Amino acid sequence: MKSVYIRGNASLYGEVTIQGSKNAALPIMAAALLVPGVCVLRNCPRIADVEYMCRILESIGCRVDREGREIRIDAAQLSDSRLPREYVTRMRSSVMLMGPLLGRLGEVSLSHPGGCVIGDRPIDLHVKTLSRMGAACRDDGTQLSASVSGLRGTSLRLDYPSVGATENVIMAAVTADGVTCLENCAQEPEIGWLCDFLIHCGAQIEKKSPGRLLIRGQTGLHPCTYTIPADRIVAGTYLCACLAAGGEALLKGAPEGENEALERTARRMGAGLERRQDSLLVKRTGPLLSPGEVETGSFPAFPTDLQSPLLVAMAQAEGESSMRETVFNGRFGVVEELNRMGAGIEVQKDTARVPGGRRLAGGRVRAAELRGGAALVIAGLCAQGETLVENRSYVDRGYEDICRDLRLLGACVQDG
Ligand code: EPZ
Repeated sequence: MKSVYIRGNASLYGEVTIQGSKNAALPIMAAALLVPGVCVLRNCPRIADVEYMCRILESIGCRVDREGREIRIDAAQLSDSRLPREYVTRMRSSVMLMGPLLGRLGEVSLSHPGGCVIGDRPIDLHVKTLSRMGAACRDDGTQLSASVSGLRGTSLRLDYPSVGATENVIMAAVTADGVTCLENCAQEPEIGWLCDFLIHCGAQIEKKSPGRLLIRGQTGLHPCTYTIPADRIVAGTYLCACLAAGGEALLKGAPEGENEALERTARRMGAGLERRQDSLLVKRTGPLLSPGEVETGSFPAFPTDLQSPLLVAMAQAEGESSMRETVFNGRFGVVEELNRMGAGIEVQKDTARVPGGRRLAGGRVRAAELRGGAALVIAGLCAQGETLVENRSYVDRGYEDICRDLRLLGACVQDG
């Protein structure tokens, strides 16, 4: 298994261009299934999850051509509604193919994506909303299948603003007969980007108010060329790296207005943030201060995907702090490894109490999931001595090349 080797205890100085967004690219690739023709997606991140999605699309009849960060998806001739188990079990977000396949073929079947180390990953909200649109869903606990003669637009309210369920309903609604009014939907920026892509293809989607969408179905969709926006979680990860290790980093292309909860927290911790055209300058040269209480939630609250990276800065900050995780019930798994580096974090139920003031010590640690793996790399940047982060393939699912990017910020990191 590949690793990341880090020589720590050095501040960051440099500039890095932020890659295309994983969590915008994946639903947009799924939405390309709705378009009987060739959609061209530019600035797609070169990461494992995008590769998995390409293979799933090819397995159901799409022609997919990749050239660098450009992906051409021809969904004119779909041939299968069964998603390959090999990729579904590796990539949870394949569940968002249900909406498009019900819209195009009237049927879909996939193995249950199952849980993962960040917590339970049920799909009840996906099933409930698609059923309300007329789909007959059958779930035997391992295999899920759904079929419909024609999706019907309707009024829906999500029990929880699930990102994936919101994306599934949007994609189902653009092909449904009639109008769909969706309430309490997720407001993450990736929802906006998905709607923007579909509107570029001819869909009629209106944001009536925050968390409320109106979607007119069967408007007829045509191919388009679309540029994937920058990845706010990757930008936020490198913001946390500079906050934790200190120094000055220019995050080129960092999206504006998509990380405000993190930016407010970073300023509380002593960072200076300055917007420079399409970039964000992050500077932390003074003391690292406790942020007090931080709580994750659905957008615009503090993002769960940046919870682990921020913990690394909190562990070193002057003064106690706490992190409450309200989105995924298993997202403190990385704490055990951080504590082996001296973080001193105590987890009780959904809250991590961080005493702060710790000097991390380098060592051999193991990634078990994507954002926790990125947090371990950040910990290695701050730690005294050398750190080896094993199982870096988890990190490669969401970061094009974390070693390349951190070296551009002046870090001493190598592919192990
Ligand atoms: C998306 O996952 C992201 N993935 C996640 O990023 C992100 O952490 C998450 O949204 C929250 O922002 C992609 O976009 C590919 P959810 P998703 O449905 O759609 C519960 C990363 O690191 N829930 O909003 O799976 C669920 O258990 C990944 O890039 C149900 O109860 O997230 C969780 O507690 C990790 N029933 C909460 O909602 C359902 O049917 C949030 O899940 C669906 C979800």
